[in-house]
Amino acid sequence: MLIETKLKQRPDIGTAHLFDVNSKKTYAAYVQKTTAYITNFLDQDHFYSGIEPKALRAKKTLLSANPEETLTIDEALQEIKELYLDHTISFQHPTYVAHLNCPVVLPALLGDLIASAVNTAVETWDQSTAATLIEEEVIRWISDLFHFPASSDGVFTSGGTQSNFMALLMARDHYAYTHYGLNIKQHGWSDVVSKFRIFCSEKAHFSIKKNAALLGMGYDAVIPITTDTHMKMDPHALALSIEREKQKGNIPIAVVATIGTTDFGSFDPLEPIATIAKESKIWLHADGAYGGCYVLTETHTKQLKGIEHADSITIDFHKTLFQPVCSSAFIAKEKENFKYISHYADYLNPLESRNEEQPNLIEKSIQTTRRFDALKLWFTLKMTGVKTIAYFLETVHHLAVALYHSIKDDPCFEMAHQPELSTLVFRYKAMGITANSMHDTINMYIKNTLFKSGQASVASTKLDGSVYLKFTLLNPKTTLDDLMHIIGMMKQKGQEYSTNN
Ligand SMILES: Cc1ncc(COP(=O)(O)O)c(C=O)c1O
Repeated sequence: MLIETKLKQRPDIGTAHLFDVNSKKTYAAYVQKTTAYITNFLDQDHFYSGIEPKALRAKKTLLSANPEETLTIDEALQEIKELYLDHTISFQHPTYVAHLNCPVVLPALLGDLIASAVNTAVETWDQSTAATLIEEEVIRWISDLFHFPASSDGVFTSGGTQSNFMALLMARDHYAYTHYGLNIKQHGWSDVVSKFRIFCSEKAHFSIKKNAALLGMGYDAVIPITTDTHMKMDPHALALSIEREKQKGNIPIAVVATIGTTDFGSFDPLEPIATIAKESKIWLHADGAYGGCYVLTETHTKQLKGIEHADSITIDFHKTLFQPVCSSAFIAKEKENFKYISHYADYLNPLESRNEEQPNLIEKSIQTTRRFDALKLWFTLKMTGVKTIAYFLETVHHLAVALYHSIKDDPCFEMAHQPELSTLVFRYKAMGITANSMHDTINMYIKNTLFKSGQASVASTKLDGSVYLKFTLLNPKTTLDDLMHIIGMMKQKGQEYSTNN
């Protein structure tokens, strides 16, 4: 059959599933039915069903063996309920205090609903028009909060890891260009780059090392700086380390100050670090993936003083602005430095068609196709408002402080630090046990048994080689009673281990 005839005679297979003017009613009905399943998910008693991984694997396979077989919406929703919704982790549950997963606000969900349906790709003006302007507006809003100049610019990214990648890439290529006239983007690696060194606190996020490796510089290019008793980078140690590396023949190019470390929520002292960075003529990146959003609060103004001296900032709205994953931004003080990232493709954004009035956001991003993540933040800022967000953030910080004071004198626990943000790291100390390895075992037992039973999810980490447990508090509706309930369960599990072993 001729192709033309085939096209003319095509049957109406599945076209009702295409989102267009003919599927409006179906779309509305689908969304309504799906919403019922989502809201039922919220009614679960526990943060997790506690199902064994083996039992979960034994459930229905994801895809049917018969590709001809399709499900109705009711069948598909029921299947995904049994496979996923009934057994997934509820971040909004008060007994989920493990990782940096925040509960999300309703306006952000609206933004995501629209972004998914309209499906804008924020790459080029001819794909995103008004969305380009909304993303630019949100970036300007956050840059202004950090007192960055008009010459600054930024872009939404997939998360803190990608934002930190962009920061290290910019720092490396800028240093190579300004000091050695090297154009790494064009010509690739040069031997001198093997001597480049990046400094960050020993409590910095692992993405600094990982990104250094991805950039071809290797883990060894990252020099960890000791922290003080408050888990903050020691500026004196930084200055000494920079000198030491220079004497070894290495070339310091950047320092990363963490604005809210992943485990301890500690803020590196920005002002002395900025002074050292300036004197050493090196890039200062502020990794504010966790603590950056506290720029909205009154509780952390002191800790954020000096951030305006940074050359670039990472900020994650999907950690501390109640946004669904992904929502994150990378901001550079000088927009000119995006030249180390930009690329011009004939089919997309030819250089000769560059037009300031109609910007192509792809020129600032390492992604090509990119979701319109700024929209959900726009809805949040418009509907929830910064005052409420600030109140939420202050509340979870106060909650961490209150928890610290409630358990610090309890002989069953040993505190690792005083909370500066909204995490608390501590460990259960069984009476009469001196062997550190036994404490490690008991703490892992507490964490694992609470998780498996679906009673609570707490995180674990290591401090000086010992296992500690961590509460990450991101839900402003959680109460101190909720947390003390988890503490009670932890004690019970700790005693249970001691009795049975
Ligand atoms: C301080 C810090 N930086 C970077 C990251 C990486 O962020 P993402 O998970 O969004 O890639 C994290 C994640 O926990 C973090 O805590």
